[in-house]
Amino acid sequence: MMYSKIIGTGGYLPEKILTNHDLERMVNTSDEWIRSRTGIVQRHIAADSEMASDLALNASREAMKAGGISPAEIDLIIVATTTPDMIFPSTACILQNKLGVKGCPAFDVQAVCSGFIYALATADLYIRAGRCRTALVVGTEIYSRILDWTDRSTCVLFGDGAGAVILTRSDQPGIISSHLHADGSYSSILAAPGNFCGGKAQGNPFVVMEGNTVFKFAVKVLEEVVYEVLVENNLQISDIDWLIPHQANIRIICSTAKKLGLPMEKVVATLDGQGNTSAASIPLALDIAVRDGRIKTGQNVLLEGVGGGFTWGAVLIRW
Ligand code: ACO
Repeated sequence: MMYSKIIGTGGYLPEKILTNHDLERMVNTSDEWIRSRTGIVQRHIAADSEMASDLALNASREAMKAGGISPAEIDLIIVATTTPDMIFPSTACILQNKLGVKGCPAFDVQAVCSGFIYALATADLYIRAGRCRTALVVGTEIYSRILDWTDRSTCVLFGDGAGAVILTRSDQPGIISSHLHADGSYSSILAAPGNFCGGKAQGNPFVVMEGNTVFKFAVKVLEEVVYEVLVENNLQISDIDWLIPHQANIRIICSTAKKLGLPMEKVVATLDGQGNTSAASIPLALDIAVRDGRIKTGQNVLLEGVGGGFTWGAVLIRW
């Protein structure tokens, strides 16, 4: 039986930090409101010169170093991003060039905050099908460029960053199962609805969100998808050693854990220092928990995410 296995993780956060106190000077908000409603204390903001592919490159180098892989060994690149460098070419192609390699397939996946789950599931299937041996899977975002910095209901929530993993062929799991879902009828509750026409921005290019609806939907589908994973793999919730959720909001994370009966000691939460980094949040949290030694060989690690689209999904890994 052929599986795919993560052999290296990496993360990158831009140098500039924007605290809740900084935001108090920009919009009518308070550190107390942001902390209590979201769990966020600070977020990182990319420099004007940095693009999503630059953040991705830094995270990819860390993952390659951790996995002992050189760029030439990579034969598939998938980048999950909602904030690509440009409309085209894809951020994956730009990243491939920055890595100094050519020839292997490289493409972007657009599933907003579930993007990394979609990308990882896709890379896993490529490897299991024998179509590649070593994949670089990245989530990279610069949400600071698509936020309306006068809208306090959205600008306090997000941050910039990138996370990456190296996935390689293995005869042992590895990724045990992946589960992807979407429901396009919810597209308007979380969107950046603008577009381009005749060289001009058309419509609102910034993130708009019905916060309460997103909250309820997120908790509902995250609980459902975790049960789907447990049933398919004949597991109990107590068999999960680590839950690594998309880092949108500590209240969504806590509500989901409570509904599942999973103690918070088994949940990796990193959003206090990073905010919601969309497709980058899961690989960034994974990287932190791997590097600080929380995640150990043989443990069951469940990644789960939900985002605009609406999209949601989960990937179960035997570490
Ligand atoms: N500072 C101070 N007050 C604020 C702020 C702010 N930054 N933002 C909104 N408010 C005000 C509102 O204007 C409102 O005031 P009003 O009562 O005078 O009208 C009041 O706070 C309450 O607003 P609500 O939207 O009802 O606040 P709520 O308690 O629902 O919290 C939040 C808002 C944090 C967005 C919440 O709905 C939530 O967590 N939603 C989930 C959405 C989320 O996490 N999105 C991330 C992206 S989606 C994803 O990644 C899956």
